[in-house]
Amino acid sequence: MIKRGRFITLEGGEGVGKSTNVAFVASWLKERGIEVVRTREPGGTPRAEAIRGLLLDPSFDETLHTDAELLLMFAARAQHLAQKIVPALERGAWVVCDRFTDATFAYQGGGRGIESGRIAQLEQFVQKGLSPDLTLLLDMSPDAAKERLEGRLRDQQTQRDRFEQEQLSFFEAVRHAYLERATAAPQRFALIDAGQALDQVQASLAQTLEERVTLWQ
Ligand code: TMP
Repeated sequence: MIKRGRFITLEGGEGVGKSTNVAFVASWLKERGIEVVRTREPGGTPRAEAIRGLLLDPSFDETLHTDAELLLMFAARAQHLAQKIVPALERGAWVVCDRFTDATFAYQGGGRGIESGRIAQLEQFVQKGLSPDLTLLLDMSPDAAKERLEGRLRDQQTQRDRFEQEQLSFFEAVRHAYLERATAAPQRFALIDAGQALDQVQASLAQTLEERVTLWQ
């Protein structure tokens, strides 16, 4: 087996504070002398970011078929893995990724209703057995997260993307699918209560990282 770095992903619905906490996780690791590659999905490389634009842009006068959405997610992922994630892990760097395939099971599976077996087939085809070592799931009620999201959209004066335009019931289904995945793989997932104050969320993240890093050494 190739000696490689660790692969850590952060997941959660909209407005749970993912970006802030991805930055926190990356700097926590860097402070311990670990080489960290911080990235995101969909995206992470120029071509994968171009696919992200197609996926998030709400301005096309045409609906995006759910199968096309699913395949574009995996197309972006294939490019991201080949160009960035796998080379980084192979040289021993740790990868901290804002969303990965659990988001596909949650959004395209839970949210759009695509059968999870079909997603698992694409996962195997594209990832060939590679999966995260640790997934930090930032969980909070979509109702409460909606307020945070609306505040952010107001502050940054940005338009809602194609996913942010979805109804609350969509985000309830996304949350349910994430929690089901966390229950099915308790060794990989750490469930973080994102409804707490930020310093408490980050204390929970730090504690989880401390435990894992010790375990992996
Ligand atoms: P974000 O970077 O602001 O989280 O936006 C990415 C959006 O893409 C978010 O709404 C979740 C969605 N998404 C999926 O639907 N499936 C996926 O596999 C990934 C990675 C993201």
